[in-house]
Amino acid sequence: MKVLTIMGTAHKGNTRAVVDLFLKEFEGEKNEFDEIILPNDFQNFCHGCANCILKGEDKCPHYNDVSKIVTKIEKADLIIMASPVFVGSCTSGLKALLDHLAYMWLVHRPKESMFNKVGLIITSAGGSGVKQTVKLLKTNLFYWGVPTVYNYGVTTMKMGGNYCDYKNKDKIKNQVSKQAKKVKKALSKRKVGFKTKFFFKLFGMTQKNGWNKVDVEYWKEKGWLDGKKPY
Ligand SMILES: Cc1cc2nc3c(=O)[nH]c(=O)nc-3n(C[C@H](O)[C@H](O)[C@H](O)COP(=O)(O)O)c2cc1C
Repeated sequence: MKVLTIMGTAHKGNTRAVVDLFLKEFEGEKNEFDEIILPNDFQNFCHGCANCILKGEDKCPHYNDVSKIVTKIEKADLIIMASPVFVGSCTSGLKALLDHLAYMWLVHRPKESMFNKVGLIITSAGGSGVKQTVKLLKTNLFYWGVPTVYNYGVTTMKMGGNYCDYKNKDKIKNQVSKQAKKVKKALSKRKVGFKTKFFFKLFGMTQKNGWNKVDVEYWKEKGWLDGKKPY
């Protein structure tokens, strides 16, 4: 099984510590691990040309960098998306990457491989903002087509340092362990739920009278407008 971690920060602090706790849970099971560290591994901001959506993803000015990331994402069974909360949201490094992946939302040109993955969102905040950050990241994974997404958010009440210094570190370890078990179970019994199926059908209906030629062609080529399914 392949585990890809998309780290919204290169800072080795709370978020990194929680991610490492999760990764430890997946060690020793012939798993392969890969990471994208942001902003180190992807340093572009979306220009807003919408070429990816309207003309094709290869027309994005940052296509070379984006395609390397997408290749890694496509290979993964488990996608861990992690970010500290910065001003009530994910880091700008992670958001900048997500913006470049709008073209592969369900409403445009979703990748078949996404429907067979499991997602895990990890966030850490000083005081507040975990909920809305989880929501944002979950929304992205959902609209990529990832049907099952778990999350774990921790509020440290402390800036700087590392969770290891905290009084509640044992509680965090236990919670991580429990959540990791659920993720493992989901990976062993992967299934596409009603919500994903519903949105796939809905967007399929809009493609039949589609306004965006590139999307319509894509859905036609896949046979999705003739009843074929990506899951
Ligand atoms: C620029 C910046 C913005 C932050 N914004 C928030 C915030 O909106 N809400 C919050 O609770 N904590 C906020 N924090 C605190 C971090 O979310 C918190 O310390 C987090 O655990 C840091 O993760 P890290 O150690 O992985 O970098 C902010 C920290 C920084 C550096």
